[in-house]
Amino acid sequence: MCRYLLAAVAAIAAFATTQLCDAAFAQQPIVIKFSHVVSPDAPKGKAALFFKEIAEKYTNGKVKVEVYPNSSLYKDKEELEALQLGSVQLLAPSISKFGPLGIKEFDVFDLPFLMTDDARARQMMASPMMVDMNKKLESKGISPLAYWDNGAHVYTANKALIWPEDFRGLKMRIQGSKVLDAVARELGAIPQIMSFSELYQALQTGVVDGEDNVPSNILTQKFYEVQKHLTVSYHGRLTYALVTNKKFWGQLPADVHEPIARAVKESTDFFNTTAEKDNADALEKIKASGKIQFHALDDAQRKAWVAKLMPVHKEMQSRFGKDFIDKIYKASGFIPPQS
Ligand code: LMR
Repeated sequence: MCRYLLAAVAAIAAFATTQLCDAAFAQQPIVIKFSHVVSPDAPKGKAALFFKEIAEKYTNGKVKVEVYPNSSLYKDKEELEALQLGSVQLLAPSISKFGPLGIKEFDVFDLPFLMTDDARARQMMASPMMVDMNKKLESKGISPLAYWDNGAHVYTANKALIWPEDFRGLKMRIQGSKVLDAVARELGAIPQIMSFSELYQALQTGVVDGEDNVPSNILTQKFYEVQKHLTVSYHGRLTYALVTNKKFWGQLPADVHEPIARAVKESTDFFNTTAEKDNADALEKIKASGKIQFHALDDAQRKAWVAKLMPVHKEMQSRFGKDFIDKIYKASGFIPPQS
């Protein structure tokens, strides 16, 4: 009799403990690790913190967002793999870095002068074309949640870059896409793929002679302190994809999924507004620093750059196919100059 009683008490105790544990576990917030490579006061850094604030608020604390800026958790090369493994839940990398995933199509967005103004860029990233591109990411276990437009690129170097031939022989850092590689080679420069976190030191020590980036990155990473010249060329664009792990996203409970999706939407609006203002302000602040010489391209110089770089568009027709390139032109509103 005592043995049955003891067994019953033990069973009840075990059941109660499990219940308590389950309840305690259920109350554990879902942790979203958001890793990125820029500084907290760059547009992406601010948007990540904004996302944290509203995601935690809208889910009443059911979600906890941990933001890791400045490559403090993962560097460029590692972060996508970590996302696929589920070691991190949210990233916003430049789409120029998707090549290593085996998705070459995203390189097409680096075609020179393809999306020179904000309206064209947002039109492009909102176009039906992106449905196919998103499916390619999904096939790699990555779910794209939004695209964040960080504006147009300018060049910095220790030499004035006014005409295309000024690039001859320079070692130029690139992000990684085959198109950026072709652009540098077409200009007679030597492309060097390098992680963002290594760039400041590489510029300071002369491992590379120059780079291209958006003004807000040049300001917040202080690249202008280790470069002598800046050319306002707007020849390319920095577009981020806010991406998550497909399995993680699919398993989010419904009462969390909706508020997170809302936080993603509002963070995207916040990002696009912040990026536009911060990049304009950054250009003024860099100029006002007097630490770097500014060069704006006049019409003749811009025409020379466009003409010099159109062969990259031609070259990429063989890589992507003319139909695909024509679709990209249509979606972005780009009209190739008559040769
Ligand atoms: C770069 O590598 O230059 C940029 O993509 C970094 C960033 O995320 O803004």
